Amino acid sequence: MHMRLVTVLAALTAFSATGSADQVPIEPAKKDLSIPPIGLGLWNSKDKDASKAVEYAFKAGYIHLDSAAAYGNEDYVGESLSASKAPSRKSYWVTSKLWNTAHQPKLVGEALNKTLSDLSIPYLDLYLMHWPVAFLPDQGGRSVVDQDTTILDTWRAMEDLVRANLTKHIGVSNFSPRQLDEVLKNCDICPYAHEFETHPYLQQQDFVDWHQKNNITVIAYSPLANLNPTYKDKYPDIGSILDDHFWKKLAKKKNVTVAQAILAWGIQRGTVVIPKSVHEVRIIENLGSVNVTFSKKEMKKILAHDKRARFNNPSEDWGVKLFEELDDGTTRLMWAQDL
Ligand SMILES: NC(=O)c1ccc[n+]([C@@H]2O[C@H](COP(=O)([O-])OP(=O)(O)OC[C@H]3O[C@@H](n4cnc5c(N)ncnc54)[C@H](OP(=O)(O)O)[C@@H]3O)[C@@H](O)[C@H]2O)c1
Ligand SMILES: *[C@@H]1O[C@H](CO)[C@@H](O)[C@H](O)[C@H]1NC(C)=O
Ligand SMILES: *[C@@H]1O[C@H](CO)[C@@H](O)[C@H](O)[C@H]1NC(C)=O
Ligand SMILES: *[C@@H]1O[C@H](CO)[C@@H](O)[C@H](O)[C@H]1NC(C)=O
Ligand SMILES: *[C@@H]1O[C@H](CO)[C@@H](O)[C@H](O)[C@H]1NC(C)=O
Ligand SMILES: *[C@@H]1O[C@H](CO)[C@@H](O)[C@H](O)[C@H]1NC(C)=O
Repeated sequence: MHMRLVTVLAALTAFSATGSADQVPIEPAKKDLSIPPIGLGLWNSKDKDASKAVEYAFKAGYIHLDSAAAYGNEDYVGESLSASKAPSRKSYWVTSKLWNTAHQPKLVGEALNKTLSDLSIPYLDLYLMHWPVAFLPDQGGRSVVDQDTTILDTWRAMEDLVRANLTKHIGVSNFSPRQLDEVLKNCDICPYAHEFETHPYLQQQDFVDWHQKNNITVIAYSPLANLNPTYKDKYPDIGSILDDHFWKKLAKKKNVTVAQAILAWGIQRGTVVIPKSVHEVRIIENLGSVNVTFSKKEMKKILAHDKRARFNNPSEDWGVKLFEELDDGTTRLMWAQDL
């Protein structure tokens, strides 16, 4: 293992996923890694770019990767995980996700095995149900909702994967409060984490707080708000967050880049951030966010700059209603009363 990695590993594990960085003492040695506060996102990283990104990330000191079968690049990620200079498996965290077409209980084990074989690793740290929606398999790429497979059917099959030692933890992604509640009321092995879209333009602070109270780690996806190019047409009135005056001013005050400031805020509010980049300089830059801290007053000011803008919402494409009772840019936040 690189010496540099060991040092940053020690620094990173001093942070906790569920508390602000400055409140949490260094954890005693534990047999299992807990989720590191920053990881490398891998959606839209194509082929060799994905292998390279992982290589750059390890070199920079990342010990956390956010992968998914649906990203279509797990074999390329695996190339870097099986390379001779890769760190030892126990020293880094890998999350992957079960795609919608494999929700039927009989398909779940196969899906994870395919992911593990593509990634060339013996186990995952975290396996997420990517969306709370089952699709029928084998529809030639079309998304046809499977009305007969429930979230709980799939969750039960995921619990078996923990029992089989194929993943250390299981969790969910893109769930509404009601969907999450259904899992929580019925789980034997309960969700370790919930990965959902949250960033300065979609803060969902009440929802984040609720998870923290219930010991469910929040993994913040698209932590850089609208920098993902697939989001660019969603709200034409919202410009790139890199040009946002509020963030530019704050970053300047801290003598860091806007991306570093945004990610630092995500970490300080207790969420795990997983910025994606295929560029080595940005991968290094983003990791620099672990050393930036804001005062209480600054944190409060950031709260006032929410836009309640959700960039990732396939409800219409799939013909299902996702994110019920959560911010979608048109409704008020009402879920808290129901739980
Ligand atoms: N569970 C889910 O349903 C779900 C949904 C969405 C995302 N995710 C996960 O979350 C990860 C991150 O979200 P995301 O990919 O949507 O968006 P993101 O990480 O917020 O932003 C990625 C974009 O920002 C650019 N970028 C990265 N660092 C930068 C920097 N320092 N300065 C300027 N530009 C920078 C990247 O460009 P370059 O690559 O060209 O540098 C890329 O275009 C994904 O990769 C995926 O792992 C999960
Ligand atoms: C997945 O792999 C494990 C370990 O190799 C094996 O025990 C299990 O039978 C496999 N499951 C399926 C559904 O192929
Ligand atoms: C899983 O790992 C535990 C701890 O190492 C072991 O006791 C158990 O037998 C393993 N289970 C399976 C199904 O391999
Ligand atoms: C969360 O974890 C803390 C510390 O382990 C514990 O005291 C608390 O009861 C847990 N809360 C819930 C809702 O599980
Ligand atoms: C600002 O950051 C740059 C680059 O990290 C560094 O060289 C410079 O000394 C810093 N300036 C101040 C005033 O801290
Ligand atoms: C954060 O700061 C510490 C202490 O100054 C330094 O050793 C470490 O390299 C920094 N980490 C990053 C990722 O910049």
